[in-house]
This record gives sequence, C-alpha cells and structure tokens, in this order.
Amino acid sequence: MKSILVTGGAGFIGSHTVVELHHAGYLPIIIDDFSNSHPKVLEGIEEIIGQAPIFYEGDCKNPIFLRSVLDQHPELEGCIHFAAFKAVGESVENPLKYYHNNIGSLANILSEMNRKEIHQLVFSSSCTVYGQPTKLPVEEGANIHSANSPYGYTKQVCEQMIRDLQSSGTPISSVILRYFNPIGAHSSGKIGELPLGTPDNLVPFITQSAAGIRGGLTIFGSDYSTPDGTCIRDYIHVVDLAKAHVSALKWTSKNPSKCEAFNIGTGEGKSVREVIDTFQKVNGIELNVKLGERRLGDVEQIYASGEKARQVLNWEPELSLADALADAWCWQQNLSLQE
Ligand code: UFG
Repeated sequence: MKSILVTGGAGFIGSHTVVELHHAGYLPIIIDDFSNSHPKVLEGIEEIIGQAPIFYEGDCKNPIFLRSVLDQHPELEGCIHFAAFKAVGESVENPLKYYHNNIGSLANILSEMNRKEIHQLVFSSSCTVYGQPTKLPVEEGANIHSANSPYGYTKQVCEQMIRDLQSSGTPISSVILRYFNPIGAHSSGKIGELPLGTPDNLVPFITQSAAGIRGGLTIFGSDYSTPDGTCIRDYIHVVDLAKAHVSALKWTSKNPSKCEAFNIGTGEGKSVREVIDTFQKVNGIELNVKLGERRLGDVEQIYASGEKARQVLNWEPELSLADALADAWCWQQNLSLQE
C-alpha cells in the first residue's frame, strides 16, 4: 500500500481526497493545522472509511514540524499539497498572510520531498490563474494573465516554483490541478464544506440560507453579458474532483521527471441563476433571492476544457450539478442536526 502525504487533509477537498485515496488502495497520511477546518472532519472520514486516518496536527510553514512527520514515515511515496488559504477578498486585505502561507508552505514541502527523495507531487491550483480568459472553454495552454488578487498570484508563483524545480533537473514528477468551482459533499452526508464564519462562496451561502442561518441570498450582478445576466462558472462535484487527484497520482508514478497542468471542471458553464434554480428544484426548497450589485473582482464567465484531463489522466466527471446540490443540502442538514 503506497503512503501519500496529504497536507490540508481535513479541508473540504482534502477530506474527500483522503476518502478516495483510501478507496483506491493508498494509505493517506494527513497534516492539517485546523486553521480553516475542524477536528470533527477526521471523525467523518473515519465513519466513511471504517478506520481512523493517520493524522498530524501542524503547520506546513514550520519546517521542523514537517521534517519530523516525514522522518516518521520513510515509506512515503508522494504528496498531495492542499494546505493553503483561499479567500480572494481576504488576500487583498492581508496579502502577506497569503504569501507566507501559500508560498512558504510549498517551498518547505518541496525541500522536504527533495531531502527524503519523494518524487510524486499533486498540487492544488485554481482556474483563478487564467483571470478572464479570452477564449472559452479555457484550455491549459491559454495565456496566464496577471493575477486579480494576491491569492491568485500565489497560485501562479507556486506553479512556477514547481516548474522551476523540475527544470533544474530534480527528479520530481508533478501534476498541477487547476480547479474550477468545487461544490457538493460526500453522498454519505458525513463530510462536506465547513466554511468558518459567513461563506464567500455561492453554494455554502445557498445551503446556509436554506437552513435559515443566513438571511436572503443576493445575486451579485444581473447585468453581465450572459444569457440570463448572471456570472457563469464551472461547478464540479467535490467527489469527482477528489477522484481526479487519484488519477493524477497514478500519472506521476508513470511519468518520472515530468510536470503537467490540468483543468479539473465539467466543461459546462452554469449561471448563478441556474445554480439557484437547480437547488430549489432538486431539494424542493424556495430561497429568498434578491438581485444586488456586481461583486468586485468577479470574472464574467469561465469554464473548463476538460479534454486534456480526459485524454491524459483518463479522468472525467460522473456527477451532475443536481447531484452536487442535493449532496450539499444533505450535508447542511446533518450539520444543522449536530448543532
Ligand atoms: N455569488 C453570488 N452570491 C453569493 C455568492 C456568490 O451571486 O452570495 C456569485 C459570485 O458573484 C460568482 C458566483 O456566484 O459569480 C460564484 O462565486 P463563488 O464565490 O462561489 O466562486 P468564485 O468563482 O468567485 O471563486 C472560486 C473560488 C476561488 C477561485 C475562483 C477562481 O472560490 O478560490 O473560483 O475563479 F479563485
């Protein structure tokens, strides 16, 4: 059984990936500092996989901590690096927090991987690296424009750091996954998204509104040049996204000393209005929705070309927007029951 380090493994995408790694026969070893997650997530993982996951609490910015974890696991063969901050608005207000954490942690991880001769890496990137693309669906070879936020810039720098390391002759094989908009939850309802405070993202805001935790839902802008005037995104079920990490890991084991970036989305753009309508329909709930101003920094529309991931990683999404919104609501209801 191959051991894989999963930094940020108690987070939204990390926890679902831990489950899929287990199902695929890997042994995930989790690091998380709970800065944007909760220890209860580990219980949810345990209930799904039937055993407590191996876990170390700590911060990847701390090289001594990282070194001690890797020294305890000489059998590690790869790393999936999620641990990073991801709130666009917060990164504008507090850029150094993002530079220290997102860039510092990756530099530490790569140094430690080098020291321990661990050569397989899967890195969490974002479609934010494209900004507003000129051609849709966006392909991996599209021009990378200057970033809209410090958060976006950290992802660009991290991608470059990995490429530079690979170009230097270090025998590392890496996959950069550029996520589109991850949503949904595990179908068991035992793990899901756990935003701390008021959610920034659309789907957790919808589920919290439906649960009566938030007031009405505001659509940020209805005068865009899109068919219904609202922004378009590519919403990918988190379980499909988690499975993409397993496919990526397999690719790294077969392609030594290579580095490739892949879009991970559905290939289909859905508007904010369509997401709200689908949520209402699939869950039989009426939301209190109002139209508001555009949100600063939003791109009008972006959705992925999934061709490269399909052809090279042999991965494609299996779940629909309706599946994701039903699972997200099931998770929200379980959370509300626990409180
Ligand atoms: N939206 C609303 N009302 C809300 C929340 C969101 O109308 O209450 C709209 C946004 O304006 C946007 C769409 O819903 O048009 C999706 O917004 P999200 O915040 O859910 O997602 P983003 O596309 O803005 O951001 C996501 C990730 C970021 C990443 C970015 C890349 O959360 O980490 O995609 O495009 F950088």
